[in-house]
Amino acid sequence: MLLQTKKLCKQFGGIYALKDIDFEIENGEVLGLVGENGAGKSTLIKILTGVYRLDSGEILWEGNPAEIHNPCQSRDLGINVIHQDRNLVPSFNGIENVFLGLPYEKKGGVAVDWKKMKQRVTAVMEELGIDIDLNIPAALLTPPQKTMLEIVRAMMTRSRLLILDEPTASLTDREAEMLFETIEGLKKKGTSILYVTHRMDEIFRLTDRITVFKNGQLVNTVQTADVNKEQIISMMTDNWVSEKMKTARQFGGSRLDVAHLSSRDGIIKDASFNARAGEILGIFGLGGSGRTELLECVYGHRSVAGGTVAIDHKPVGKASPANSLKQGVVLISEDRRGKALVGSLNVKQNIVLSTIDHYARFGVVDEKKEVSDARDQIDRLSIKTEGPKQPVLQLSGGNQQKVVFAKALLSEPKVLLCDEPTQAVDVKTRQEIHKLLRKRADDGNAVVFVSSDLKEMLEVADNVLIMAGGKTKELFANDGLTAEQVLACCYAD
Ligand SMILES: Nc1ncnc2c1ncn2[C@@H]1O[C@H](COP(=O)(O)OP(=O)(O)OP(=O)(O)O)[C@@H](O)[C@H]1O
Ligand SMILES: [Mg+2]
Repeated sequence: MLLQTKKLCKQFGGIYALKDIDFEIENGEVLGLVGENGAGKSTLIKILTGVYRLDSGEILWEGNPAEIHNPCQSRDLGINVIHQDRNLVPSFNGIENVFLGLPYEKKGGVAVDWKKMKQRVTAVMEELGIDIDLNIPAALLTPPQKTMLEIVRAMMTRSRLLILDEPTASLTDREAEMLFETIEGLKKKGTSILYVTHRMDEIFRLTDRITVFKNGQLVNTVQTADVNKEQIISMMTDNWVSEKMKTARQFGGSRLDVAHLSSRDGIIKDASFNARAGEILGIFGLGGSGRTELLECVYGHRSVAGGTVAIDHKPVGKASPANSLKQGVVLISEDRRGKALVGSLNVKQNIVLSTIDHYARFGVVDEKKEVSDARDQIDRLSIKTEGPKQPVLQLSGGNQQKVVFAKALLSEPKVLLCDEPTQAVDVKTRQEIHKLLRKRADDGNAVVFVSSDLKEMLEVADNVLIMAGGKTKELFANDGLTAEQVLACCYAD
């Protein structure tokens, strides 16, 4: 046995995030950890990596009691981690971030040897087939690049235990595949792996055993070969059955028209499409194809060089987030912490943020109404929170994502642009979000939906637009459309 916990407990504000957890990881196994949003998965990881202190209970490492009071102690044991919230220092460049908590290389024992450090990082990147600019601050990296940098950091020293918390959120299939191969290679060398995800396919592909958490308690640990997906889902959710969404529908007039759009930074070269009332238009493409950047151009977050955007056939003069909001265009951004949430505000303040005008009469804010609307959204999306006044950053990763979604819905957009809206949310909420997107469309609005999960794309979108190299390439009706057809189009020159 590599690691064991005994009766581990952790409370926040009098509520148990973890209660009496007896958890075990064997040497050289890949253990999956699953549970609904807020079940306590990341909290356990933060205790094992010295970010949080446990309240009571014990951690045993190879059978001996271990003290993990800070991240260094955890790293010294050989535990490396990719945190769900991507712990990079925004102003540090790639090398500085990778060497966080590691001893710097020194010339003659004094001056920092940056060249040697860069060589070491580059060597690891080459081995993994990762290519990122190490000279720019982490704040300028895209979410997938941030994940890649965390992977590099976790690979700098030999791990006894590698912990990955939602590692594939925002990665494309190809990047994820690279990660899976790395995991399989490490397992062969005897490294134990703790893998947290809401994606059941990954759990079944990678793990030897699965541990299920529910409401801060460990429900069960099973051999992966002995169970199926439905059994795992029912262990985490009690009595929940998934329903299939109905498709085959009619569309109204165009609500969003985009013609020959290009961005000043050259990432978007030539994009044209329209989204009609009643339609969920999916946008799919490989990493770097420009999906996120296209949504940002339409919304006015990214500078546009040429082309036109029209809402309800009226050209939008200069796109800016403020203008977009006025026109009824809302963007749910992929980078929820960076762009979508205000960390210093509470849950309610975040939910009502973009509709704040609705609550002010003669300069007085109707706080009662704010709170009741926020509560409605909290119920509707089952956001796990102590209440509207809880600081938003105290919520679990998936519940933060739900807050972003709630905020967007509350403003009742005519055109809803969403970038990976179900990233990191549990299966139940994922379906709830799909239903809400469908309802938004059914009510006569247009939804533009980006997901790097092709299966999800085929479940949700009415039509699928393929992007490659900053250009829109082909539009498919999602009517018997297969993953192979989509991928063939993406990879074709
Ligand atoms: N710093 C904190 N302060 C207060 N409450 C917290 C804090 N960190 C976590 N919690 C609470 O602990 C519970 C468990 O959260 P945790 O992040 O472990 O969930 P999770 O299983 O990782 O969920 P997800 O799938 O959404 O990432 C949640 O109810 C969360 O709100
Ligand atoms: Mg989590």
